[in-house]
Amino acid sequence: MTLYGSSSPADPSGPARKPITLPRLAEMTAAGERIAMLTCYDASFAALCDRAGVDVLLVGDSLGMVIQGESSTLPVTLEAMRYHVACVARGLANASGSAIVIGDLPYASYHASPQEAFVSASVLMQAGAQMVKLEGAGRDNAWLIETIAFLVARGILVCAHFGLTPQSVHQLGGYRVQGRGEEAADRLFADCRAAEAAGASMLVLEMVPAPLAARVCEALVIPGIGIGAGVQCDGQVLVLHDMLGVYPGRRPRFVRNFAVDDAGQARDCEGAVRAYVAAVKDAGFPAAEHGFER
Ligand code: KIV
Repeated sequence: MTLYGSSSPADPSGPARKPITLPRLAEMTAAGERIAMLTCYDASFAALCDRAGVDVLLVGDSLGMVIQGESSTLPVTLEAMRYHVACVARGLANASGSAIVIGDLPYASYHASPQEAFVSASVLMQAGAQMVKLEGAGRDNAWLIETIAFLVARGILVCAHFGLTPQSVHQLGGYRVQGRGEEAADRLFADCRAAEAAGASMLVLEMVPAPLAARVCEALVIPGIGIGAGVQCDGQVLVLHDMLGVYPGRRPRFVRNFAVDDAGQARDCEGAVRAYVAAVKDAGFPAAEHGFER
């Protein structure tokens, strides 16, 4: 696996890549090397994604939709997250993988208090996650900032998710672009800064105007990973099923189907993931058409 594991080949014929640790992520960001992140929910895809060079595997609560067939992430339980984190962590360990694993804290597992967040986070850490992700909610994220500081003080790495936060879909009135207009943009920017100051190690910025995401990533030291947030983020994330073109729902604007190449030829799964990693690394993805200028 990662933190103390030995190096493993992303390409079996190529040189071994370094394990993706927190210092390695910081090094990549400082050097301008973009971080390729994908969601992952099972052992086989964990090994495949790692082989294909994915840096970060996010066991996202998007599994509610793409694995469980729910219409939102709200029904996903902590037990479901624990199960899928364990599957991914085992798959990586069996493959001597290098990627780092982030587990999503699901709806209603961390909102009541920092203590509740610690108990929930510890379940995912003991299942094999190396970092947990929490979503902002509401106009005032002071509660989240306090929770981040509480977890970090107790040795838990935290990724903070801002912009479109799907667990708040009803409050947001749908899956819409966030941070539009000066006041909303300044609020989102302030949340990101506060999360970093509280000790967050990473941000996910979902569906925010590209200039705002660029401003955040420029100002912060920690990596900002975009999804529908423009090419100037420090890395990109997509839902695995979306980028493989296998999710039956409507394809969001920020998704590109990597299972088909530019000539319209089908790629196998590993080829598609390799193409995604290459496109993230060389800033070929996302294109302007995958994002929002304002
Ligand atoms: O749950 C998830 O998959 C996510 C990503 C879309 C960032 O949070």
